[in-house]
Amino acid sequence: MSRMLRRYLEAQADQVEAVLVAHRTPGRITGGTIGPRLIRFCLDPAPQTRLSAVRSLAEDLAVALKVPSLRIDRTHEGIILEFPNPEPRPVTLVSLWPEVAPLPPNTALLGLTDDGAPLLARLSSPEVAHILVAGTTGSGKTALLRTMAVSLALANRPEDLRLFCLDPKGRAFRGLTGAPHLARPPVVAVPEAIEALQSLLRLMELRDQKGESHPRIVVFIDEVADLVLQGDGRAAPGRNQQPTSIETLLTRLAQRGREAGIHLVAATQRPSAAVLSGVLRANFPLRLVGKVVSAEDARVAAGRAQTDAHLLSGRGDFLAVGGSAAPIRFQVAYIGEQEAQQQLAA
Ligand SMILES: Nc1ncnc2c1ncn2[C@@H]1O[C@H](COP(=O)(O)OP(=O)(O)O)[C@@H](O)[C@H]1O
Ligand SMILES: [Mg+2]
Repeated sequence: MSRMLRRYLEAQADQVEAVLVAHRTPGRITGGTIGPRLIRFCLDPAPQTRLSAVRSLAEDLAVALKVPSLRIDRTHEGIILEFPNPEPRPVTLVSLWPEVAPLPPNTALLGLTDDGAPLLARLSSPEVAHILVAGTTGSGKTALLRTMAVSLALANRPEDLRLFCLDPKGRAFRGLTGAPHLARPPVVAVPEAIEALQSLLRLMELRDQKGESHPRIVVFIDEVADLVLQGDGRAAPGRNQQPTSIETLLTRLAQRGREAGIHLVAATQRPSAAVLSGVLRANFPLRLVGKVVSAEDARVAAGRAQTDAHLLSGRGDFLAVGGSAAPIRFQVAYIGEQEAQQQLAA
């Protein structure tokens, strides 16, 4: 730790204690951790100090500490105060790789948790199965999809794992160009997306009958809400009995895809019920939530209250929310497009 950082931390701890005393909610900073992106202070509250009272001071504390955002959480360690590290260290896929390789099959690398542990997501597990990535523009959704896709492609043979990409903007998956795992080039146009999802649904039904799940298929979808909106009422005419709405197709795949080895990883800036139905969202057990604009957006994106995802700092600062466990905050292991292409070609 640099001398400057040490002095900064001491001063910040004093500030926190001063603000708490001023608001009659005293407590002491007893320690903490310095993560690559975040400083975490552990707060030992005085007996009369209530957690809700400390929570309500998040804004005042951010002002006093002169930090862009401050998030308050409760863990088994007590009350935690998190704010950005003034000397952040980059978290990259390439630097993290030696620590995690060999990754188990069907397992994506997400990033590094606050505690400095790599965070992985095993798609075949029922707690993961399908992943919804939500966050405002610039929160790092597309970069997170790329990290997951590249880590899967690096760790699984194309015979064992296929990647399918849907991308209404047509730019998200350039890093995967040339990967032998790509079942086809990324799908941009809506009619083609409908047709691709229909064929996956047929495959799912076939695999269901045979009890097969190999090779695994991971369907990456960027800006899924845009795709759903654009696809509304744009049915591919004259096909079979299959659904023609993207929303219905995705819901069917999410409901029964896992046993057939088909997984959805979808990103959206708008997780709202108006665009993605509750039924569809409920079938994504794992939510990866980046910075959102408001507490209400945080609730919709995470599927639960009080995650404070609106207080995240953006650019790869995410929460993993799933099951009944407490959300895990992590920094996405970044890989650029060109670097991704190089890694996949190597
Ligand atoms: N994990 C990350 N680490 C560092 N910078 C990031 C990370 N993720 C995103 N960024 C930066 O933020 C910008 C926006 O990221 P992007 O993934 O396009 O966001 P979104 O898809 O949510 O709009 C990127 O161009 C990159 O510069
Ligand atoms: Mg994006």
